[in-house]
Amino acid sequence: MSFQAPKGTFDWLPPRSERVLAVREALAAPLRRAGYGYIETPVFEDTQLFARGVGESTDIVSKEMYTFPDKAGRSLTLRPEGTAPVVRAVLQHNLHNGQLPVKVWYSGSQFRYERSQKGRYRHFWQVGAEALGAEDPALDAELIVLGARGFASLDLKQVRLLLNSLGDKNCRPAYRAALQEFLRGLDLDDDTRARIEINPLRVLDDKRPEVQAQLAGAPLVVDHLCADCRAYHEEVRALLTASGVTFEDDPRLVRGLDYYTRTTFEFVHDGLGSQSAVGGGGRYDGLSEMLDGPPLPSVGWALGVDRTFLAMEAEGLLGDDTAPRRVQVYGVPLGDDARRRMFLLVDELREAGVSADLAFGGKGLKGAMKGADRSGARFALILGERDLAAEAVQVKDLATAEQTEVPLAQVVDVLKEKVQ
Ligand code: HAM
Repeated sequence: MSFQAPKGTFDWLPPRSERVLAVREALAAPLRRAGYGYIETPVFEDTQLFARGVGESTDIVSKEMYTFPDKAGRSLTLRPEGTAPVVRAVLQHNLHNGQLPVKVWYSGSQFRYERSQKGRYRHFWQVGAEALGAEDPALDAELIVLGARGFASLDLKQVRLLLNSLGDKNCRPAYRAALQEFLRGLDLDDDTRARIEINPLRVLDDKRPEVQAQLAGAPLVVDHLCADCRAYHEEVRALLTASGVTFEDDPRLVRGLDYYTRTTFEFVHDGLGSQSAVGGGGRYDGLSEMLDGPPLPSVGWALGVDRTFLAMEAEGLLGDDTAPRRVQVYGVPLGDDARRRMFLLVDELREAGVSADLAFGGKGLKGAMKGADRSGARFALILGERDLAAEAVQVKDLATAEQTEVPLAQVVDVLKEKVQ
């Protein structure tokens, strides 16, 4: 059998691949307008960065990492997410000693060894944003608004925003203890019992109906927020409301990564079935210290590009993407001399800003004209031996079938005019 892409991965092929590039651009555009700078970090990092940053007890670290030793015996991991690497880069390059907040965005592959299904892949793409070094509810609100604007710019109508606060190091411990006490009284299996002791908030996220049924009376973090966290959260909510960004308070929203404090949120889409989160994020005031850095209160999000694409498909926004307009002009050379001349002409056209392709493989007129049709070009340039002798080329408008002879010396200018 021939090779297949590994389980949980897939290929983006033209013409759809063009659309996914546009989706990435659209999600990043609001960040650029808000002064976020582009950052690129390595696809693999020291395994400990994620173990400490994302948290040993999370599914990501305990089950889903692509970890391998390199030839010198270092333990490396393909990045499962972008936040810990960004904090590592900021600390390593001392960006936090300059102007704060440090605002950066990224776009790249992430890797998680998850059970693959529609919308959940082992290799997926995120556009992310992080703002480091400021504790200011306006910064949380700014990021949330920028995420919402990105989805809106793609015409997505069914993205909902869920919002919660997880408290901070002052109020979370008491909440955690209250939650643990409640959970210990429930009828749960051994694995879940163990989770109560390590990461009780994750139990709230258990999807099984028999567990959910018992969680109805669980204590909620909103009822345990300290005065500072409550005021902070109210300010984020007020700014979102003033911006016209609608949200739903979701006191049960817990995230799958351990670094969150205070503001947490998720963008969900109802047309995606169980993998409904198209993006998520929150504040992570303690992450820098977990990575041996100074206190650096920060907030960020990552949007899932593959799921955003599926959401667009679910809303019928992709239209017919089977017949792309790939180039504007298509060269049809007939004979060897014409082929050499057409090769140069196509290059000239491209340099002049006109997109152009030509028939390869020594095709005859019929085959080459078929290529012209398939290319989506508006104009075919037909160059035969007699045209060459006359220093001219036939310009055929493929929409009207009208054909005119144009001197070779003028054809670039003529076409530049025509394709505008
Ligand atoms: P996350 O919630 O793990 O957060 O991932 C963010 C988004 O990536 C999800 O909402 C989803 O759209 C997409 N995603 C996650 N896993 C998969 C998968 N297996 N297949 C397809 N798409 C997926 C983070 O990664 C945090 N680093 C976000 C953040 C940034 N928090 C603060 N700053």
